[in-house]
Order: sequence, then structure tokens, then C-alpha cells
Amino acid sequence: MQTTSRPVTSNQAGPHLRLAEVVARHAQQAFRKPLSVFGEQPFDQAINAWQRHGGALIIDAGCGVGWSTRKLAQQFPDAFVVGVDQSAHRLRRNTPWSGPALNNFITGRAELVDFWQRLALARIHPAQHYLLYPNPWPKKAQLQRRWHGHSIFPTLLSLGGYLECRSNWKIYIDEMALALTQLTGIEVHTEQWPVDPADALTPFEQKYAASGHTLWRCAIHLPQAD
Ligand SMILES: C[S@@+](CC[C@H](N)C(=O)[O-])C[C@H]1O[C@@H](n2cnc3c(N)ncnc32)[C@H](O)[C@@H]1O
Repeated sequence: MQTTSRPVTSNQAGPHLRLAEVVARHAQQAFRKPLSVFGEQPFDQAINAWQRHGGALIIDAGCGVGWSTRKLAQQFPDAFVVGVDQSAHRLRRNTPWSGPALNNFITGRAELVDFWQRLALARIHPAQHYLLYPNPWPKKAQLQRRWHGHSIFPTLLSLGGYLECRSNWKIYIDEMALALTQLTGIEVHTEQWPVDPADALTPFEQKYAASGHTLWRCAIHLPQAD
């Protein structure tokens, strides 16, 4: 695991000036993208594993090497945690795990836009959903690559449950909090999130905390759409 990291550099000084307009436009259009044939098997595998186990469903979206998936499974032993990442390379990496053996998690390779659409179509509502250190896409022109600026965002919110996002780029969390407030009417705020590297939930969190970055998060209990 790396021990140093650079702060995020961006050509934005604060939340994107077009954030509210982009979020509102996406909320007005039903998200439509054909489901990928490659997404069906990992989705079915994850949902079947959860249904066999039972308990509340927790999604670790963009789980990387799956370390946070295990940590969440350890923290919530009665729940079932599904870690999803598009990177086969990261998922295959054998990151050392010194915790107990766990049978309440699974990790799978899938594209999150596809996975979230499948959850919404199947009317599956995770109890908790974590977006831990998503790629920041920090350039002004990249707003629509950040999850709150993406056209899938209203679909993600429709899943309901507790949603938490963490980042080392404060603007990402400020924008996420504004977008959540805009679409739900629930006031969401950015919080500073002090982390002892020894207690980090994810490898990125550990790396940033060990490098002295200030970390940020926001969270919401989403109303369920159906
Ligand atoms: C910065 S890494 C953070 C990984 C992990 N959450 C952590 O904190 O250590 C972002 C992760 O999101 C994954 N990711 C980004 N876009 C994705 C997408 N559209 N579908 C699935 N995974 C995605 C990447 O492959 C990468 O592993």
C-alpha cells in the first residue's frame, strides 16, 4: 500500500456554478441506458448471495480491493455487504486481511451505472450504501463524471436507505451535499471526518489519513421512492 498522496488539484474554487442546473436536468429525465449483457451475471450472483444469507443489504460502491467490504461486513455481522467495482485488477489484488473469516459479503466486477439501474428495476432497496473515495474528476469540465453530476444520480437516490459519501476533496462532498439537498429537500451538510490511519475503512482513506489530508463526508437517510 502507498504511504504518500497528493492533494486533489482542480480548476474549481468551490461548487460548480452549473451544479444545480445539471442536477435539475437529470431529475427531469428518466435515466435510459441499455443494460449491459456483462452486468447480468455479477448482479444475479450478488443478489442470490444476499438472498441466501438474508439480512439487510449494504452496498460498497466502487469498493476497489474490497477491504472496506470486509470491514463493513465485520462491523454489521447481521447484514450482507456487496462490494462492486469495475476494476478486475483491483478486485483480484490480494490485500492482506487480518480480521476474522466472514461469510456475509461478496465482491463482484460490475459497472455501477448498470448495477444501480438493475437494483432500481428489481425494486431492491439497500439499507446502507457507501460511496467511499470515488474518483474525484476534479476538472470543471468533468462535473458530469462525478456521481452527483451524473445522469444516474436520481436513480441512485430512488434506491433509498442510508447513503454516505467520503472524499479528500472537500468540493466533491460540498457538491454531493448540495445535490442531495436539492433533490430530497433534506438539509445535508459537509462534515470533517477525522480518521486515525489505523482505523481507516478503506485503503484510500488510510493512505490519505497517513499523508495528513483532511477528510470529508456527508450522509443522508433517503426516503424510499417505492
Ligand atoms: C479512488 S478508488 C477508491 C476505492 C475504494 N473505495 C477505497 O476507498 O479504497 C475508486 C474506485 O471506484 C471504481 N469505479 C470508478 N468508476 C466506477 C464505475 N463506473 N463502476 C464501478 N466501479 C467504478 C474504480 O475502479 C476504483 O476502484
